Amino acid sequence: MVVTPWKVSGKIDYDRLIKKFGTQPLTESILNRINKHAGAIHPLLRRRFFFSHRDLDWILDQYDEGRSFVLYTGRGPSGPVHLGHVVPWIFTKHLQDVFEAKLYFQLTDDEKFLIHPEHTLERVEAFTRDNILDIIAIGFDPEKTKIIADIRDVDALYEIAVKVAKHINFSTVRAVFGFEESSNIGIIFFPAMQAVPAFLESELTGERVPCLIPAAIDQDPYWRVTRDVASKLGYYKPSQIHCKFLPGLGKGGKMSSSIPETCIFMKDSPQAAAKKIMDSFTGGQSTAAEQRRLGGSPEICPVYYYQHYLFEDDDKKVEELWRKCKSGEILCGECKSLLIEKVQDFLVEHQRKREAAKDKVERYLMRHK
Ligand code: TRP
Repeated sequence: MVVTPWKVSGKIDYDRLIKKFGTQPLTESILNRINKHAGAIHPLLRRRFFFSHRDLDWILDQYDEGRSFVLYTGRGPSGPVHLGHVVPWIFTKHLQDVFEAKLYFQLTDDEKFLIHPEHTLERVEAFTRDNILDIIAIGFDPEKTKIIADIRDVDALYEIAVKVAKHINFSTVRAVFGFEESSNIGIIFFPAMQAVPAFLESELTGERVPCLIPAAIDQDPYWRVTRDVASKLGYYKPSQIHCKFLPGLGKGGKMSSSIPETCIFMKDSPQAAAKKIMDSFTGGQSTAAEQRRLGGSPEICPVYYYQHYLFEDDDKKVEELWRKCKSGEILCGECKSLLIEKVQDFLVEHQRKREAAKDKVERYLMRHK
């Protein structure tokens, strides 16, 4: 199993990651604390798509004592946005609504330019402009959300970045990120840039403001160095809530733009999405007769997991789908059709909001350049 910000492969054992990264599992009691404010436990929490955290209890203590926190999340604009990317964003919007929190959303065009040999600046800038529309389409509150694009907004970030960078030495980032002698010096500096939004609100207001970062677990190396420098600079350590990776449509592995057949892109037409789902790997048997006799394996099936994590809120219905698959009562074709309908509705709605986002971009940007 490899889990770094730039590479995720092998079979992911999330319990082992909790131990390896030194994070905390999301317990019932912490979910109940969130529930007190939310009124219902969001399916992504209930079904443990978000599964781990650091200092979430502390941030809830702060909140309960009347101190608000800011949210911080982000995206590396290296290609078009797919379903796997938007899952943590949907949850971030939920947190923004529940806690009425301000959100900093960072687009790391610099990171993607530096890490991918084939990317030109023009290319990542084009993806930045494109991805912003998907972010806005999620429905973040325009009054409370600031989208930062590192290169364009460097003047707002650089001062904090150099302060952060002065406290991180090369041997630390080499160990944490696996940098080598041949790594370019831009990417070696970059972890300082990703730390900045966690401290931005404190810097702008002159008061220490707690920050909660919802992100996939592969981003954790960044937060480890960010937390290390926080106290040295007089900021609170940012809290994290970590999510898993959405499986791709292929056999095993996460949804990944580098294997486009496994991705449902947010710009896919309803027909294209239906075709990909129809061609998806499943936990089914090779013939209908065998499936009726032996049943399927929802535990390895992406078609099941999309319902489980995203498209079926009703716990009873999810259980029923699991049971019907296991017993051979439902076959893959029918199950895929059920999912296709929901995915198509979701995409059509997202694409409508994405179109409408074109007129709203200015309101969300950190700088009005
Ligand atoms: N490095 C992230 C990526 O490649 C982008 C990112 C920047 C991010 N800041 C973040 C992701 C905060 C989650 C939370 O996708």
